[in-house]
Amino acid sequence: MGAWARDFFRGRPTWMNVLMLFCAYMAFVYVPWDLFAKPVARDQEVWFGFLLTGWAAKAGAIPHWIVYAGGFYGFLRRRRWMAIAAPLYSLQVAYSSLVWGIGHFGGATGWAAGLAFAAPFVALALAFWKTRDHFRAPRVSLRKRYGEWALVTGASSGIGEAWARALAADGLSCALSARREDRLEALAAELEAAHGIETRIVPADLADPEGAGRVLEAVSDLEIAVLVNNAGVGCAGRFDLRSADELAPLVAVNCAAPLRLTSALLPAMRGRGRGAVILVGSIAGRQPLGLHAVYAATKGFDLLFGEALYVEMKPFGIDVLVVEPGTTETEFQQVAGEVPHSGVPPERVVEVSLEALGTRPSVVVGWFDWLRISVATRLVPRSLTAWIGRDVMAARVPEDLH
Ligand SMILES: NC(=O)c1ccc[n+]([C@@H]2O[C@H](COP(=O)([O-])OP(=O)(O)OC[C@H]3O[C@@H](n4cnc5c(N)ncnc54)[C@H](OP(=O)(O)O)[C@@H]3O)[C@@H](O)[C@H]2O)c1
Repeated sequence: MGAWARDFFRGRPTWMNVLMLFCAYMAFVYVPWDLFAKPVARDQEVWFGFLLTGWAAKAGAIPHWIVYAGGFYGFLRRRRWMAIAAPLYSLQVAYSSLVWGIGHFGGATGWAAGLAFAAPFVALALAFWKTRDHFRAPRVSLRKRYGEWALVTGASSGIGEAWARALAADGLSCALSARREDRLEALAAELEAAHGIETRIVPADLADPEGAGRVLEAVSDLEIAVLVNNAGVGCAGRFDLRSADELAPLVAVNCAAPLRLTSALLPAMRGRGRGAVILVGSIAGRQPLGLHAVYAATKGFDLLFGEALYVEMKPFGIDVLVVEPGTTETEFQQVAGEVPHSGVPPERVVEVSLEALGTRPSVVVGWFDWLRISVATRLVPRSLTAWIGRDVMAARVPEDLH
């Protein structure tokens, strides 16, 4: 509990943590009570200095709820828009206090009271403005934060390629692994020319039990500071219509390989007191997924493995993150045998990961997928979630595999 609290409140000034808790109280306790339990006749809300009563006050509580819920989320995740929203809202409260004071007391007393009420909120707005960098997600260069070399598996396409580009742009030298050597070579040449970094090509088949060992051997002389366990594969279709030979590589590539690579590279990171391990999971790993049963199970493994590793490794200065994309526009669907459907660009997955790295154990890419998966896994009976998951997949899997 203590470690959780330290992690939860880390990185913000104390006064900002206090405001975050205040917003949580307002959003989850006070405003819901105000909206649903307080008698209409007794309800009062002040907006822009004007006192609203009765049903107008009830309606006024809704934007208040949005402000406090948004404030809690904004403080928690340090969203960029808070740099503007927080001082603006404080100024609105300051203005409200001034107008209310003048209206309530009148004359010079009213001005004096209004100014006295408004002053703390003007100070708060200024404090927000001065500390706006907290909301700009200023990232220390990954190379400075973790070290010189990154190992990216599945770098020959899609999300892995996007990871390699982002890490190289940040100055990290990259060991690039996958089976398609020609693609890795082209990417390596491009990254070296564009960013002046070093690269190393590590061709390996991670479905092969010796594959991860070959990767480790090829990078044994490098200090791997960032490990991106990205290589992954799916195999769509009803379980009994797919053979074990088709499905076993999913377990090897998506689960066994990350386990082997992470296990081998973590001790050195621990010795250096810094490092990062990223597991590319999937929102598929949050629920049972008929017609993609084994894939979802492997991504569930990645999620639970990575989240547990986050808390184990945090005290040693190592950041672990499971990134959970929804549909992403890569070769994945084609390889998995899915019906093509649109998704987010792979660069977005990396962008979201880099924002979240070091701040939490896992991150879902995109608010809609977050909402969808949170409702499905927290509010809906598990049996219903399983049926809905199968229905969603039915539209994405060819009918002869249903
Ligand atoms: N695209 C999506 O909708 C989506 C959604 C959620 C999560 N994900 C996850 O994102 C990760 C990256 O997938 P992607 O979307 O970028 O798909 P992708 O474009 O198909 O890339 C998959 C990568 O994994 C490599 N790989 C596959 N099998 C391998 C093997 N046996 N040995 C070594 N490398 C292998 C591939 O390289 P070679 O073929 O050259 O070996 C390729 O570089 C995966 O873990 C996937 O589960 C994808």
